[in-house]
Amino acid sequence: MSDQSSLTVLVVGSGGREHTLVNACVNSPLVKRTLAAPGNPGMAAICECEPVAADNVDGVVGLAESESVDFVIVGPEVPLCLGLVDRLNDKGILAYGPKADGARFEGSKTYTKELLLKYKIPTGAAANFTESEAAIQYLDTASFPIVIKADGLAAGKGVVIAEDFETAKKAVVDMIDGGAFGESGKSVLIEECLVGEETSIHAIVSGKDYVILPSSQDHKQVHEGDVGPNTGGMGAYSPADLIDDAMMQRIEAEIVKPSVDGIAAEGIDFRGTLFIGLMMTATGPKVLEYNTRFGDPETQVLITRLETDPVKIMLAAAKGKLGEINVKVKDEYAMVVVLAAEGYPNRYRKGDPISFPDSMGDNQFIFHAGTKADDAGNIVTNGGRVLGVTALGANLPEARDKAYKLSDRVDYKSKYLRRDIGAKELARTE
Ligand code: AMP
Ligand code: GLY
Repeated sequence: MSDQSSLTVLVVGSGGREHTLVNACVNSPLVKRTLAAPGNPGMAAICECEPVAADNVDGVVGLAESESVDFVIVGPEVPLCLGLVDRLNDKGILAYGPKADGARFEGSKTYTKELLLKYKIPTGAAANFTESEAAIQYLDTASFPIVIKADGLAAGKGVVIAEDFETAKKAVVDMIDGGAFGESGKSVLIEECLVGEETSIHAIVSGKDYVILPSSQDHKQVHEGDVGPNTGGMGAYSPADLIDDAMMQRIEAEIVKPSVDGIAAEGIDFRGTLFIGLMMTATGPKVLEYNTRFGDPETQVLITRLETDPVKIMLAAAKGKLGEINVKVKDEYAMVVVLAAEGYPNRYRKGDPISFPDSMGDNQFIFHAGTKADDAGNIVTNGGRVLGVTALGANLPEARDKAYKLSDRVDYKSKYLRRDIGAKELARTE
């Protein structure tokens, strides 16, 4: 396999993150053919989409074999936790993303907490329970607010911040005895409530080597001013100057390096994205969680800001050769505004026809997330987060203005967006 424009690459997933990764593949000089499984209409416009669900491990492995795929990039966490990369590697197929042993950090909050404590990485105090009686006893002497977390995957919804004993008790009983979140909630973590501004760090990891990507900040609550229920993310920007160079060095020394070294010391050969959620507390950054894949919508602003070919970086990580890569980042700022469906993250309508602008400027992108083509071939809404409108600019105000101008040129009946993406950062810097 030579590296010059010879690779067939398969991107697994169907959201805005994967559309961004597909776009990077299509623009990579290393790639001759890009496939997506299952993809979405945005990806279908630029690559071949195959109707295989991301969590259909046998199906994805079969597709990779039948299409002679050289390199698989796995977007979402579920196939990683199901061991997709283990299965691909068994067939001799290179893949970006951790094997099941590494994805377990995303699949179990208790497992992550044990690693954090073992390697003395700053994080909130916590205790794990599988019996509600013992958990309630613990709550009896706890101080509030306190955080109750389902141990396993819960699509970002398994966290309750309880202001008082009764709310905490209800969350524990619902999860352990009531089956909320199914198996994921049978084990709960009760964690100290950390106060501060949230941010996250993405590192591309390969064994003991890592590259820290630029800082970014997501906006999790559905409404302006950070109110309302948590979503998968309503918008993001990069860089987040909340993390200045000195803070980045501190995060690397206290959190990223010990995390990467700790994971390696556990005998795990992690090759993929370690996405570390942080709370910037009064006493310094503390880890909220590990994810073992790129964030969505953070990917839309991180990948588009890379000067170095993202495929080259991910390929080097998968091959264990990340140490040979020098990653360059563009000076431009980036912002993604998520266009959602009114009602998300609760009930929302699907099937609204979407009208798109005929053209857009350089370094502007409309990444598809919850869209589908109807029987007549029209693109309609098909999810809570519909599109990720992304723009680069010389500074954050310029990136914001471009992203919102482009957002205003997209239309569908149930369109809903936050108008204040990046507002806190702009208030800090203006
Ligand atoms: P997680 O899935 O662990 O990132 O939790 C989801 C969200 O819950 C985080 O993004 C935070 O907003 C909030 N959260 C989680 N853990 C804590 C904590 N210990 N203190 C305060 N907020 C938390
Ligand atoms: N944007 C947060 C996440 O991908 O988990």
